[in-house]
Amino acid sequence: MLDKVSAPNVYAMKRRGDKIACVTAYDYVTAFLSDRSGVDLILVGDSVGNVVLGYESTLPVTMDEMVYHTKAVSRGVHRALLVTDMPLGSYEPSVEVAVQNAVTLVKAGAQAVKLEGDYPEQIKAIVKAGIPVMGHLGMTPQSVHNFGGFKVQGKGEKANVILNQAQSIDQAGVFAIVLELIPAQLANQVTNAISCPTIGIGAGVFCDGQIQVFHDILGLSSTPLKHAKRYAEVGDICITSLQHYVEEVRGSLFPKEEHSF
Ligand code: KIV
Repeated sequence: MLDKVSAPNVYAMKRRGDKIACVTAYDYVTAFLSDRSGVDLILVGDSVGNVVLGYESTLPVTMDEMVYHTKAVSRGVHRALLVTDMPLGSYEPSVEVAVQNAVTLVKAGAQAVKLEGDYPEQIKAIVKAGIPVMGHLGMTPQSVHNFGGFKVQGKGEKANVILNQAQSIDQAGVFAIVLELIPAQLANQVTNAISCPTIGIGAGVFCDGQIQVFHDILGLSSTPLKHAKRYAEVGDICITSLQHYVEEVRGSLFPKEEHSF
């Protein structure tokens, strides 16, 4: 059994040149399976909104929903570091609001929190309260309306904005930064310019680690995404198996003697 992963362990992996494997999971089953696979970090992402709850984006996701899903995930995680996303509106208004909501997520089972954008004061205050913070830059989904859609960020002259933001939150004390949908060369530049690890999603191979959504890895999401690799088509297996079950019920082929008492 591998040792329990902590935020300082994740930070140290960059120095050692060990790549960091991370997965977004939302409930007991997906957390348990991810933890068993040996991933280093499990994120209760606010993508729970669009992937599991049927919202169009992450914007409607509430603190109560993040608390509920964090509790479920925490029951399935034993080794990986459990990080929970701070939803839109839970950290931007003030340092006090940010610390209070981060504490609520830790009480629900999170071992660290993640927040989007350049909020160094909030990051410093949460870290001071004893809670490790992960940053998230690039195509930050909570700012989708500002970006005018889900588009690659940091192209051309805009690269410097992301580089400066990364340096700002690195200095504020994040233990890692997610880089989402940015050019691979910019991710390389950011990775070399900061001391904490970078975790890419659609940000190329030069990041210190990668994060993918459980449902995308396993072929459970409806649309294939350019930045995701489907390692299995579990969705197809589910449909075929369920069709088989329906046929057997209709044909009185299930249950059989061995399923009966
Ligand atoms: O919400 C989420 O799943 C995320 C990852 C995609 C990084 O923020």
